[in-house]
Amino acid sequence: PLTEPFRNEPDTDVSLPANQTWARGIGARIADRAWYGALPVPEPFGPGDVDRVVATGRAAAEGWRARGARERAEILNRAADVLAARRAHLLAVAGAEAGKTLDQSDPEVSEAVDFCRWYARRALELEDVDGARFVPDTLVLVTPPWNFPLAIPTGSTVAALAAGAAVLHKPAPETRRCSTAVVEALWAAGVPRDVLQLVDSVEGETGRALVAHEGVDRVVLTGAYETARLFSGWRHGRGLTAETSGKNALVITPSADRDRAVEDLVASAFGHAGQKCSAASLGILVGSVARSERFRRQLLDAASSLVVDRPQNLQATVGPVVGEPGEKLHRALTRLEPGEEWLLEPRPLDDTGRLWRPGIRTGVAPGSFFHRTECFGPVLGLMSAEDLPEALELQNAVDYGLTAGLHSLDPDEISTWVELVQAGNLYVNRGTTGAIVRRQPFGGWKRSAVGPGTKAGGPHYLAGLGTWEKAPFAT
Ligand code: ALA
Repeated sequence: PLTEPFRNEPDTDVSLPANQTWARGIGARIADRAWYGALPVPEPFGPGDVDRVVATGRAAAEGWRARGARERAEILNRAADVLAARRAHLLAVAGAEAGKTLDQSDPEVSEAVDFCRWYARRALELEDVDGARFVPDTLVLVTPPWNFPLAIPTGSTVAALAAGAAVLHKPAPETRRCSTAVVEALWAAGVPRDVLQLVDSVEGETGRALVAHEGVDRVVLTGAYETARLFSGWRHGRGLTAETSGKNALVITPSADRDRAVEDLVASAFGHAGQKCSAASLGILVGSVARSERFRRQLLDAASSLVVDRPQNLQATVGPVVGEPGEKLHRALTRLEPGEEWLLEPRPLDDTGRLWRPGIRTGVAPGSFFHRTECFGPVLGLMSAEDLPEALELQNAVDYGLTAGLHSLDPDEISTWVELVQAGNLYVNRGTTGAIVRRQPFGGWKRSAVGPGTKAGGPHYLAGLGTWEKAPFAT
């Protein structure tokens, strides 16, 4: 119940024999094409439907808001239980549709559950502020990404619902079935269908009409920086909250626990085949680490031993890239820049072009293509720095500022780094991916974020989905 304090939902412990049997069932589902073919997808949506869904949402918002925070929170807290009970189904859908290996999708379900429990509790606080009244957006358009097809669609949607808004949920085209599974869970928990409408992925003019619509108070986008810019132009200054791109580095100094650093760098670079805004795409090696043959060998061994396969293989920890590799990723996978060498050359493992043995390039030069470009795939670049200040300079010399990592056991280095590094999420002696709701509120600066600057999964996120009215209140 809502009266219980928030706690994070645990991931599945697959070392338990019962859970291994359970996981094998999910693997079989992922491989079952007939099952996949029968999964529901949203109804097609055309230009003539835009005004209708906006009007429906706005009309429904009134009743939803009038129910009050407690009733909304109870429904969303119940949604957490529905999602948790449907974990196996959600994992199968994410494996089959989005290529997510079980080690990556299982924490996503936990995060989705966390978002429901957390935002439900935060909604109660919004009604409890002296001298100010929170006025939620009436209608929010949520456009989630394909790379976290369970957690982010849930989090963005539930936050808006908790705040008191009605939602239009527009799935990423690549992950319509995942979004449908999430939305169905929220409906099953008691969110009315007109308060939360699932609108088919809309491209071209229809999508633009929806994003630009006067009746949409806010668009919550998680996607590329270029998309946020496009949306921003269409919105003419009206509500836009966007979590965008990253070019994130993990710095490793000579004082680091190198075994742990290798493990975290490999997991941060290649988890979900590097297709995370939070991924470490650069390793910045400081001083003796940069010169250490042993460190390079360790890194090579760790990366070479990853199991790259489709998610029906339950041992796989690196799955396929989603969609044809775009121009930047193709360049990163196939071409070296001047001065670079492959420590591990990426290699396609079948003829689909989707499954790649990860690659590691060394000698990435300051200001070069790979230093500055988000490539969103299974390629890691190594850079060298003489000392921590130089490493910080390299780490900060990018347009984005989403996540940043440091491996160091030296307290002075840690405090210098924390003070000077330019990123929203800082991780010391940990990988750069997998932010945990409440413990690590998630959001960037520079070109990694647009909007009110409130972090997802943090205490203030809901307050960014509306405005504050000061007393005396209008009646
Ligand atoms: N919240 C996701 C992560 O931290 C993007 O990896």
